[in-house]
Amino acid sequence: MKKYLITGGAGFIGSHLVEGLLNRGDFVTVIDDLSTGTWNNIAQFESNLNFRAIIASADERSLIEREVPKHNFVYHLASAVGVKLIIDRPVETVQRIVRTTDSLVDVCMRYRVPLLLTSTSEVYGKSDCVPFAEDNDITIGATSKRRWAYASAKMLDEFLVLAHHYQTSLPVFIVRLFNTVGPKQTGQYGMVIPRFINAAIKNEPLEVYGDGKQQRCFCSVFDVIEALLKFESSPQASGQVINIGSNEEISIGQLAEKIIKIVKSKSKLKFISYEEAYGHGFDDMRRRIPDLNKAKRILNWQPKTKLDEIINQIYQYNINQKNHNQ
Ligand SMILES: NC(=O)c1ccc[n+]([C@@H]2O[C@H](COP(=O)([O-])OP(=O)(O)OC[C@H]3O[C@@H](n4cnc5c(N)ncnc54)[C@H](O)[C@@H]3O)[C@@H](O)[C@H]2O)c1
Repeated sequence: MKKYLITGGAGFIGSHLVEGLLNRGDFVTVIDDLSTGTWNNIAQFESNLNFRAIIASADERSLIEREVPKHNFVYHLASAVGVKLIIDRPVETVQRIVRTTDSLVDVCMRYRVPLLLTSTSEVYGKSDCVPFAEDNDITIGATSKRRWAYASAKMLDEFLVLAHHYQTSLPVFIVRLFNTVGPKQTGQYGMVIPRFINAAIKNEPLEVYGDGKQQRCFCSVFDVIEALLKFESSPQASGQVINIGSNEEISIGQLAEKIIKIVKSKSKLKFISYEEAYGHGFDDMRRRIPDLNKAKRILNWQPKTKLDEIINQIYQYNINQKNHNQ
């Protein structure tokens, strides 16, 4: 049995990763401060003897000094997440992301515990050179636009982790996740699909930011977990940055229409300017598609689940949750 430490394990992706590892028969410790994650996401594992959770911040040095050496591998997912949260709380965004990764990778280096960092497609910034390949140059917006604080902090995380690999040969894996969606994701911090589905269920307007023509690709969390579980056993992936996501593109306006149709809702689209949605300090990019050649070559991975199926899964999950809570 292998032992895994997951920071951010009570979050959306983290809790699915916990499930994947426990199903494989591994032992899992979660460290999560429940800042955006919830106990509910991991409550179902509480009685599993191969599971333990520590509710604390992963930047507590003494805690990670104690915990990291007890494990064979660290999945570092803890991070401020979600455009709305990042715009509203820029100080925490930058400080907590960088501090946590800095402490964690330092401790991993000392105890020689391999680390996987979940980075983000946001680091591609304003580039219009789609599809985005991992070694492409990057164009980030002005520092006065708060949105770019997240991309820059995650980029610094990548530099730090790669620097440890370069200087001490620590096995590290950097995953640039593109929009990941599925059951358990909350719309509270600005994630578009749960926000649209919840509005459609209530027959409320679906608020589309900008002109709705911006295009995105959405990957099933179950496909993402399959990829995350492959890194450790792919030695060629060590010291590499690899995109994980879907390349099925859709505009946000079309996405809203699709959700209304699937949910059989009476909702209408309501267009809202970025300024109105996020206040001053927002910048957006028109398209964001991953180049998935590296993921295919190194991990033999590609996304399988189509968008309609993903939306249906989330819709069914949300309906079940609603009925359960009544
Ligand atoms: N969901 C996506 O579409 C997406 C896209 C790109 C990258 N990512 C990355 O994937 C990871 C997981 O994201 P998610 O979508 O599951 O978000 P999430 O908010 O559900 O999960 C993040 C978790 O980290 C916890 N956390 C935050 N700071 C912490 C700290 N200092 N110590 C301990 N716990 C802390 C939160 O409570 C939460 O449970 C993040 O690193 C994020 O940057 C996600």
